[in-house]
Amino acid sequence: MVNIFLTGATGYIGGDVLYKFATLDTSKFRVSCLVRSTDKAAQMSKAYPSVRIVQGNLDDSHIIEHESRNADVALHLASTGHSGSAAAIARGLNERSTQRPGYWVQISGATLLAGQEIAEKRFGSKGDRVFDDMSDAEDILTLISKNPKRVVENLVISQDSFKVKAALVIGPLIYGEGRGPVNTRSIQAPEIARLTLQEKEGFRLGEGRNSWSNIHVHDLSNLVLELVGAATSAKSGVWNKDGIYFPENGQMEFGELSSRIAAAAQSRSLIPDATIKRVISADEAEVFMAHGSILWGTNAVGKSSRARSRLGWKPSGASLENEILNIVQCEAEKRSKQIGF
Ligand SMILES: NC(=O)c1ccc[n+]([C@@H]2O[C@H](COP(=O)([O-])OP(=O)(O)OC[C@H]3O[C@@H](n4cnc5c(N)ncnc54)[C@H](OP(=O)(O)O)[C@@H]3O)[C@@H](O)[C@H]2O)c1
Repeated sequence: MVNIFLTGATGYIGGDVLYKFATLDTSKFRVSCLVRSTDKAAQMSKAYPSVRIVQGNLDDSHIIEHESRNADVALHLASTGHSGSAAAIARGLNERSTQRPGYWVQISGATLLAGQEIAEKRFGSKGDRVFDDMSDAEDILTLISKNPKRVVENLVISQDSFKVKAALVIGPLIYGEGRGPVNTRSIQAPEIARLTLQEKEGFRLGEGRNSWSNIHVHDLSNLVLELVGAATSAKSGVWNKDGIYFPENGQMEFGELSSRIAAAAQSRSLIPDATIKRVISADEAEVFMAHGSILWGTNAVGKSSRARSRLGWKPSGASLENEILNIVQCEAEKRSKQIGF
């Protein structure tokens, strides 16, 4: 029996990962989830009666430390930047009483790779760098260690590998409907679709030549599952300095994403014209969506060599191109419910 402590279960990523574990052989995993709201805890218990709910929030360090000490694997999927909870996980896993190390899978975000553009406020322009998570792992580790603001990532990569085996999963643009009990929606592509429908026209940020890699949320969950499998089989060469993962199933320029979303909306008669005429600035993007300039305007392209070669993982979910109509339809349904027709 593997004891898993999971954060973010009511969220998009954590919820989909939880679905994956909860639908597997429950005699193999005992899952405990940190949930902060009593209403959502009730929803969780209804959906997954065998999952243990730990009531608390990310600032409850003592609870997180205690749960991590008793876990074999901590899946910290709630936040890329909450340093207190990450520190509590590190303490808990380091203090485990057994001889076996504790395992930690931490979600991170691909803006990690765009520090230069963010510093220079360069948004919407074409990038030229592809980060291969194996051959460029040293460069990624250097980007992390040279950036003191990346407290969580620095904590993950500094773990003593005899005590804690840690993996950093750098999330690119994640798409597809989540299968979790509460939030099933991602951010970057759905927000473009939402605004396209709201404004009745497509738009792009600046030249729209910047790209991110992308991955279907089901494929991301499969990677987390593979990592838990690697923990239970004590697989080597996949943790700590060898534990940087950038899962992806292709890349797309944001201008193309906007055009495809507008075309899908027009094909369903949701907007009159699919041509992108509106070009927004980084400041406008910030008004439309929190961190819009960074999440729609930077480059973050990678190659997921490590999971493919070390874990035998490969993406099998629909491509972003093939999901765009679903994204638009989901947003259209939400919009009709909100405006009441
Ligand atoms: N979606 C993407 O494309 C993507 C890509 C890369 C990285 N990321 C990052 O990965 C993380 C998770 O993303 P997501 O899309 O799954 O976000 P999400 O849907 O907003 O889920 C966040 C989860 O964390 C929980 N949470 C947040 N703050 C908490 C707190 N103070 N105490 C307890 N629980 C807390 C939320 O609980 P409640 O339900 O109570 O709010 C929810 O379960 C975020 O940091 C996000 O920036 C996301």
